[in-house]
Amino acid sequence: MKTTIAQVGKYVDKEVTIGAWIANKRSSGKIAFLQLRDGTGFIQGVVVKAEVDEEIFKTAKTITQESSLYVTGVVRADDRSPFGYELTVTNLAIIHASTDYPITPKEHGTEFLMDHRHLWLRSKKQHAVMKIRNQIIKSTYDFFFEQGFTKLDSPILTGSSPEGTSELFQTKYFDEDAYLSQSGQLYAEAGAMALGRVFTFGPTFRAEKSKTRRHLIEFWMIEPEMSFVEHEESLEIQEQYVSYLAQAVLKECQLELTVLGRDQSKLEAIQAPFPRITYDKALELLLEKGFDDIKWGDDFGAPHETALAEHYEKPVFITHYPKSLKPFYMQPAPDRDDVVLCADLIAPEGYGEVIGGSERIHDYDLLKQEIAAHNLPLEAYQWYLDLRKYGSVPHSGFGLGLERTVAWLSGIEHVRESIGFPRLLNRLHP
Ligand code: 4AD
Ligand code: MG
Repeated sequence: MKTTIAQVGKYVDKEVTIGAWIANKRSSGKIAFLQLRDGTGFIQGVVVKAEVDEEIFKTAKTITQESSLYVTGVVRADDRSPFGYELTVTNLAIIHASTDYPITPKEHGTEFLMDHRHLWLRSKKQHAVMKIRNQIIKSTYDFFFEQGFTKLDSPILTGSSPEGTSELFQTKYFDEDAYLSQSGQLYAEAGAMALGRVFTFGPTFRAEKSKTRRHLIEFWMIEPEMSFVEHEESLEIQEQYVSYLAQAVLKECQLELTVLGRDQSKLEAIQAPFPRITYDKALELLLEKGFDDIKWGDDFGAPHETALAEHYEKPVFITHYPKSLKPFYMQPAPDRDDVVLCADLIAPEGYGEVIGGSERIHDYDLLKQEIAAHNLPLEAYQWYLDLRKYGSVPHSGFGLGLERTVAWLSGIEHVRESIGFPRLLNRLHP
């Protein structure tokens, strides 16, 4: 019976054939242990000299790392294996013999691994991270579809910029200038007026000169946008969404979390509600904690965010940032016009801001005034202003960075391992 490693549990004590690669191998005179992988999982194949043809045992002893093969064997339930099964090999048929595979079981430097990202993805740890990413994507769709949202695809090539103009990738669009999307938000707002509650989910691009463990040049963002939803209600949806993701990963990705050595108590703690503090209060707390490098009006840096999240041991919303720190479209607070109705969700363990969101200005004149105050070209935003001209309603939305969330839930150090082929400040290949 031809099957995959993920499916072997259905065939205990039966003979199966699996297309696989050799992840690793060790052998003695009488027995060979093949660490097999097929993309769906990992399993150990045991080849006993006394039980197979001489040729097969010879193949098992000489087969090289990353060679591809069809392996036939009897599935055994095995408690010692993290996967629960082992294969007693009866036959091996090499498809392609690999030579000099560059990634060996010894330690390699990050640059070397990044240069070989196309191969590094095959490793157990990278496989686990990609599976967790996949679960987060699936759970995102599940969550928003269950809540009645409609998926809206925003364009990648755009003629205007929602998050400011300094970090834009510019390209030619026939005779016009175009920009790679930094955010699907403005289109999501149009979608929310047509469909009520929508979310976009696509690649976004920022020419940021930041070389940190949290920054990618190309990253994927999930951007829900909701009509008739004000600031507070948006925060409730955000905390439910993030809790849903964490609990889904805990439930569905046990093997992967084990491979990564993730402290699962940290994921168990990600349960709504999350604490909310204002920027003013956060600043007070930082001063109490001895940070003297920051004053009202400054943005929080990584050490500040980490200290704030550590204080609560849960993701924390920081709300009501100074207006000067945020983009043009955010609704001013009702009682103060120097702060806006926004929130950043800061993850614990140093993962930083995973969500940025706000209530949006829905008054036509105020929005027009803010576009001008930010020196943005009014013509490019005329369609966006139209949304305030014809049945404008209060609405809110947010953007969750997929890679930061994957890195956080997986417990990996750097966002570069949370996407198949990361685009970083100095890396466009492979
Ligand atoms: O806070 P940001 O810039 O918000 C927006 O783009 C809004 N338009 C979203 C909205 O309201 N619809 O980005 C949102 C999130 C951040 O919290 C972070 O998780 C992620 O996107 N992000 C990045 N992730 C990786 N690398 C980068 N360079 C990122 N910049 C932002
Ligand atoms: Mg932000």
